[in-house]
Amino acid sequence: MPCTTCSPTLAASTSGPRARWASSSSALASWSPRSTARSSSSGPRRSSSRAACSRFTSPGRRARSARSARSSRSRSSSGHRSRAAPRRRLTRGTTACRMRASDLMKLLAISDLHVGFPDNRTAVASLGARPDDWLILGGDLGETFEHVRFVLDTLAPRFRKLVWVPGNHELYVNPHEPGEPRGAARYARYIELCRERGVLTPEDPYPIWEGEGGPHLIVPMFLLYDYTFRPDHVPVSEAVAWAAEQGIAAADEVLLDPAPFPSRPAWCHARVAETEARLRTAPALPKVLINHFPLRQDLVFLPRVPRFSPWCGTRKTTDWHVRFDARVVVQGHLHVRRTVHVDGVRFEEVSFGYPRERRSDRSIDAYVKQILPTPEITP
Ligand SMILES: [Fe+2]
Ligand SMILES: [Fe+2]
Repeated sequence: MPCTTCSPTLAASTSGPRARWASSSSALASWSPRSTARSSSSGPRRSSSRAACSRFTSPGRRARSARSARSSRSRSSSGHRSRAAPRRRLTRGTTACRMRASDLMKLLAISDLHVGFPDNRTAVASLGARPDDWLILGGDLGETFEHVRFVLDTLAPRFRKLVWVPGNHELYVNPHEPGEPRGAARYARYIELCRERGVLTPEDPYPIWEGEGGPHLIVPMFLLYDYTFRPDHVPVSEAVAWAAEQGIAAADEVLLDPAPFPSRPAWCHARVAETEARLRTAPALPKVLINHFPLRQDLVFLPRVPRFSPWCGTRKTTDWHVRFDARVVVQGHLHVRRTVHVDGVRFEEVSFGYPRERRSDRSIDAYVKQILPTPEITP
């Protein structure tokens, strides 16, 4: 949940320093309340996929594409292929083969892998390969460069493309290693790690999704938060104190250094302004917006720790799903998986979360959410 962050337990139970560094588990776990993951499918649902890449295909190929798409949809809800529908070997390189590949391509998402927990690291190592598909990694992979390297090196060979956005945890600086890059320099180091591995980041040109359900512009973003997710009667300057009234405090206050910006809100506002300018001039295509933090305050569903909301986003993005023609918004951070529709736009919270927040009988593959094409059944 709110990641570490969500230190409701922390604040309520510790008399010592509220934030402790813990890359490996138990301490972090103690910071997080158990979330009550649940799904919702209320609201309008957009129609499912149309055949991808039809503009490139002949009628005959379109017919084959449709058969291929139907075959794809016959897979289990977790995305695994059944034995009755074995994977067809794809050959890349020619236009025709590229079309065939994109016919089968799916856009998937998962966030908050938190591989500082040994159980989570083991789970990531077990994640099944889907070499036709793109996978969005929605932030909070872990707290260290090693954590992020592990996830990228493990998953990059298993997917056609990875897309990464940072969470708050990647930005944590280990207080025992004060020489580590912090703030914007730390973010820049993660960008380097991604680029060395061909992983898309918020700093790259927005790619056009040509797979099934496309075309869509894929927009990874890094926007942070500014404490404006609070009741109207609470001044922004009092939001942290308002949370503290119920024992809520975020480890971010100690571990997330905004340097060279004077504050986390200042960094957030710079990111928002920069991203907004890019979106205003982006191609006029439907979009998949990806951000670790929710874009709207009404999507912050934290039944156990409602006063954690100040660390969850900014009101500056409340209407972005409409202004920028989003079809889907992908987010994490809350550790409360669910699907919500607002103004006809599908918002997907795709957290994997901490070990105690998950069902022990489900594999990590069951937590990988299909973003495009639109799932016919929203679990
Ligand atoms: Fe998280
Ligand atoms: Fe987070």
